[in-house]
Amino acid sequence: MFKTRMTELFGIKHPLMLAGMNWITDINLVTAVSNAGGLGIFATARCTPEEMRESIREIRKRTNNPFGVNVVLRYDSADKIKVAIEEKVPVLNYTLGKPWFVEQVHAYGGKVLGTTAVAKHAAKAAQLGCDAVVVTGHEAAAHGDKATSMVLIPVAASRVKVPVIAAGGIYDGRGLAAALALGAEGVSMGTRFMLTKECVLHDNFKNLCLAASEQDTIYDTKFDGMWGRALKSKGALEMQKIRFGFLERFQAGLKIRKVLNLSYGDFLAMGLKTAMAGDDGLSLWSQASQAVGAVRHMKAIYEGDMEKGFVFAGQNIGGIQDIPAVGEVVERIINEADRAIESLNKKRLS
Ligand SMILES: Cc1cc2nc3c(=O)[nH]c(=O)nc-3n(C[C@H](O)[C@H](O)[C@H](O)COP(=O)(O)O)c2cc1C
Repeated sequence: MFKTRMTELFGIKHPLMLAGMNWITDINLVTAVSNAGGLGIFATARCTPEEMRESIREIRKRTNNPFGVNVVLRYDSADKIKVAIEEKVPVLNYTLGKPWFVEQVHAYGGKVLGTTAVAKHAAKAAQLGCDAVVVTGHEAAAHGDKATSMVLIPVAASRVKVPVIAAGGIYDGRGLAAALALGAEGVSMGTRFMLTKECVLHDNFKNLCLAASEQDTIYDTKFDGMWGRALKSKGALEMQKIRFGFLERFQAGLKIRKVLNLSYGDFLAMGLKTAMAGDDGLSLWSQASQAVGAVRHMKAIYEGDMEKGFVFAGQNIGGIQDIPAVGEVVERIINEADRAIESLNKKRLS
């Protein structure tokens, strides 16, 4: 068992967090992690604000333990932040933007958790009032930056006073022990929790992950316009090679409009707002490219489409060899970390 600034801050049993993953971290997975003593994070990028509200209420019915929501600020997100605040979500985890809502979250006793992949950005998030920061290493699924966890964790931990939570590459107790040794107060795991019984990911892709080695990921901008890491699969390799035509972008845009349940007017307004968001803005063309990525991601996750689908995954797929229940993952990691620390102690000269 571990007591760290992360467990104290969030009031959780173990210093483990489910990384927010769009499509993947649904109510089932979130409540499984929170009920196992970690911090479940519900990703909201695919939801309308009302769906988000309903999901938060459902999560509360299924667990009495703390949980959080993940909001990507780069997309039109003010309504989702409003819902999170109205519903008094215990932890508001944001990424890709600035946390303009810190005071409002603190006013009801909530915590703000910034996710970054650069130590300088972690320092900025802490300066803006975040209670803790997640730092995401290069080896992570999806959007790590240039520095690997081995370097990013200690650099960030030396720069910020708030608790640092390490993400990227961690999948077992040795990883937890190493992250704690490097200055983190706990870990956030995406790929490990994605490969569990409770996760909605289609078996075709779960099995492909199990068969993969640590070399079998691709880091590219082709998946959603940002540098990101995905499992090497037929669909991912195709995405690397082709340039999407107008038709696929247009059709993908229409599909995402439907998923988000927006009118054509509201969908266009959202796109224009995102395009004009200053430094964080994204052209309509890039957004259409992201829509293609999102649709192909859905094809992998829900349909198991081995031809066109792709899924974000970290280098740690090379070490993950089974699909256990979430509770087993949590228990195993805590026990392994205990053993890893004991074995280190035995190596010390007295
Ligand atoms: C399928 C998938 C979807 C993801 N979606 C999001 C997201 O919506 N928001 C976010 O902040 N990070 C997202 N991520 C990144 C994770 O939050 C996290 O940074 C990453 O999984 C950590 O690395 P690991 O997989 O090595 O544990 C996603 C990752 C995966 C695998």
